Amino acid sequence: PLVSLRQLLDHAAENGYGIPAFNVNNLEQVKAIMEAAAATDSPVILQASAGARKYAGEPFLRHLILGALEAFPNLPLCMHQDHGTSPAVCARAIQSGFSSVMMDGSLREDGKTPSDWDYNVETTAHVVKMAHACGVSVEGELGCLGSLETGMAGEEDGVGAEGVLDHSKLLTDPDEAAEFVKLTQVDALAIAIGTSHGAYKFTRPPTGDVLAISRVKEIHARIPNTHLVMHGSSSVPQEWLKIINDYGGALGETYGVPVEEIVEAIKHGVRKINIDTDLRMAVTGSLRKFFHDEPKKFDPRDYNKAAMAGMVGICKARYEAFGTAGQA
Ligand code: G3H
Ligand code: 13P
Ligand code: NA
Ligand code: ZN
Repeated sequence: PLVSLRQLLDHAAENGYGIPAFNVNNLEQVKAIMEAAAATDSPVILQASAGARKYAGEPFLRHLILGALEAFPNLPLCMHQDHGTSPAVCARAIQSGFSSVMMDGSLREDGKTPSDWDYNVETTAHVVKMAHACGVSVEGELGCLGSLETGMAGEEDGVGAEGVLDHSKLLTDPDEAAEFVKLTQVDALAIAIGTSHGAYKFTRPPTGDVLAISRVKEIHARIPNTHLVMHGSSSVPQEWLKIINDYGGALGETYGVPVEEIVEAIKHGVRKINIDTDLRMAVTGSLRKFFHDEPKKFDPRDYNKAAMAGMVGICKARYEAFGTAGQA
């Protein structure tokens, strides 16, 4: 059944686990996530960015998710708008039937320029009023995702700040987080702790100076009843990086957020963990390998099956590691 983000995260908090929120754009991603969730008995968060809506088109995206609900009627499923850049975007998502929206007021409406406190509080509180009137949950964001190594926002275009960021925004302040939650009444809060979107997060396996799990603990101690969200939480699996490059890819050396650091964060209030890049890597690696190994095949169902198998592996591993498995 379709459920709100709040329902899922309240249960996760009561039972001490986290839920991966996977980005979806097409049938194969939706199917892979649902199959992994069914196999592990996990509640599901499917999230769609503005880019996903542009790629698939609103009707296809909506029906893909409705398809997931119909094909897997026993799994609780939240349909979430990722990185809404304005109240209008959130309103359209609610109209489309989403059960949760992110109002990312940490950025201006262009989705690239960091905003100020007043703008973030006003737009987020406005969306909370509108969404709650419809039974829809709201995720807000305070701070800006970006690298503590370089001060730069992520490599990915489309979502997130660009260029060099104001250093004070790279780590969410616990007192400001408490004030923000009080003023906006968000159901979940995305925080900045040194992660960034895309494959290029860290130039070496991250240590506490560049991946501030300690800041998660400080924020959770200050607002223990607020569900925390970690964006940019792909682990950038080295085995997939190797497969991609062994079969003709050209990705540079890079490291993501280790699964065990996420598991630690889950002990301190993180309930929603956003993952897009890892599934992109699994698809790309699977396809590159398939085309190399099976040069005579040309039925898209054959190679898309290989791509789905790659994604299912990642999804199951995250459901198991985050304690989501068995909670549906
Ligand atoms: O938050 C960013 C997600 O990875 C979505 O990326 O805007 O390219 O769909 P996208
Ligand atoms: P990754 O790029 O680390 O997968 O992050 C995705 C994300 O935060 C979507 O909102
Ligand atoms: Na989100
Ligand atoms: Zn994000």
